[in-house]
Amino acid sequence: MKVTILDEKQGPIISKYIYGHFAEHLGRCIYDGLYVGEDSEIPNKNGMRTDVVEALKNIDIPVLRWPGGCFADEYHWQDGIGDKESRKKMVNTHWGGVTENNHFGTHEYFELIDQLGCDAYVNGNVGSGTVQEMQEWVEYMTMPGVSPMADLRRENGREKPWKVPFFGVGNESWGCGGNMRPEYYADLYRRYQTYVRQYGSDHIYKIACGPNIDDYHWMEKVMEIAAPFMDGISLHHYALTGAWEDKGPALDFPESQWWSLIASAQKMDELITKHSTIMDKYDPEKRVGLIVDEWGSWLSVESGTNPGFLYQQNTIRDAMVAAVTLNIFHKHADRVHMANIAQTVNVLQAMILTEGDKMVKTPSYYVFELYKNHQDAQLIDSFGDSSETVSYTVSKKNNQLTISLCNFDLTGNQTLEFKLGNVVKVDSAQYIVGEKMDSHNDFENPETIKIQEFTDYDTSNGLSVTVPAMSVTTLVLSLS
Ligand code: AHR
Repeated sequence: MKVTILDEKQGPIISKYIYGHFAEHLGRCIYDGLYVGEDSEIPNKNGMRTDVVEALKNIDIPVLRWPGGCFADEYHWQDGIGDKESRKKMVNTHWGGVTENNHFGTHEYFELIDQLGCDAYVNGNVGSGTVQEMQEWVEYMTMPGVSPMADLRRENGREKPWKVPFFGVGNESWGCGGNMRPEYYADLYRRYQTYVRQYGSDHIYKIACGPNIDDYHWMEKVMEIAAPFMDGISLHHYALTGAWEDKGPALDFPESQWWSLIASAQKMDELITKHSTIMDKYDPEKRVGLIVDEWGSWLSVESGTNPGFLYQQNTIRDAMVAAVTLNIFHKHADRVHMANIAQTVNVLQAMILTEGDKMVKTPSYYVFELYKNHQDAQLIDSFGDSSETVSYTVSKKNNQLTISLCNFDLTGNQTLEFKLGNVVKVDSAQYIVGEKMDSHNDFENPETIKIQEFTDYDTSNGLSVTVPAMSVTTLVLSLS
């Protein structure tokens, strides 16, 4: 495959927020995964797992969406502040019917954000919450001066306001967030967002609830009625092996499900293209961002685990899903302002799995590590002979070119010849590769998949790279 890189034809900036994450009160994502409490024997700082925080910092996590998901529309923030032992308990009806003790609330979330050094994306409750409740939450978090909510925050130990750069007004309001019709939600959105006040000087980027997968009618109506009142609108699409009701296993799956899962991930390209075309009608300047705040593979839960906890293993196939999808987001970086893979720890396509004090990094984690140089880089246009099994991105930042390649074929190397002029040297070349379709890391073998040095390239005439089947590779090149 020959690829010509059009260095002079530069594309949009790939927002670092495309590398965002999502943590819901679901299964063992927050509790056990991110937060173990101050009294835990698992090493922690103010209750946050030290190993997990360090691992997420290493991939330059830019933003963390919280508290849901479906949970967001049942969450009443006032239950999660004040003395922990007196906090009201609730039933987590969506996710396993377990008791939520609200020990992880607003203050704990911002402690986590602070330790991660990333930005906050808080999702408000429209489904079962009032306008007043949402208004007061925003006031509690962001009001610098004297006010009832700012004073309450101070009583709970936090003098300064926090920054909330992103705020979601409802989640999946077409489904778990209230089963609304788009016209009704769009009117509610206009009303609720009015009271998401900006108390300080920092702008709050308001995100409306967008469509499920290919619900173009939802996008059309919400944009028609509410576009001027929003900064972003969400899109949710999960990669499946087949029908929603019949999810395939994460391990030991047939070859057909390798292909069907990747094809489902590739559908993201069509979805973004079509939704963006509708958005163009109401927002030709592309001011409103498409925020893909839930994506990733959704497979069967591991046997013996609570079906409501959505705990699935993560293989080299998931790494293909991550790389292919990130490449699609890059291509649409003019419209996709943020994306949040679901979910950070122990849930769905997780970066990290934990068991007691043990932690493993998944193949998907390593894709985020291999791709981190694309954050806030400029997309570089390129064209090449078509290959049905290679997906790639070229970007430029600080006089370095970063080329990432995913060969999702099951057998056979692929050679790509990049025609480029002024490469000085290869600064780094790394990859991950699977030996089997379901190669993965677990607590017994945590390093079956890990980042390795990549040597199969030649710079004597442009750049020639030969990538093996089931691999993700990144080369970082210096330019003259
Ligand atoms: O990520 C799991 C769930 O998927 C979220 O809670 C919901 O928004 C979506 O349906």
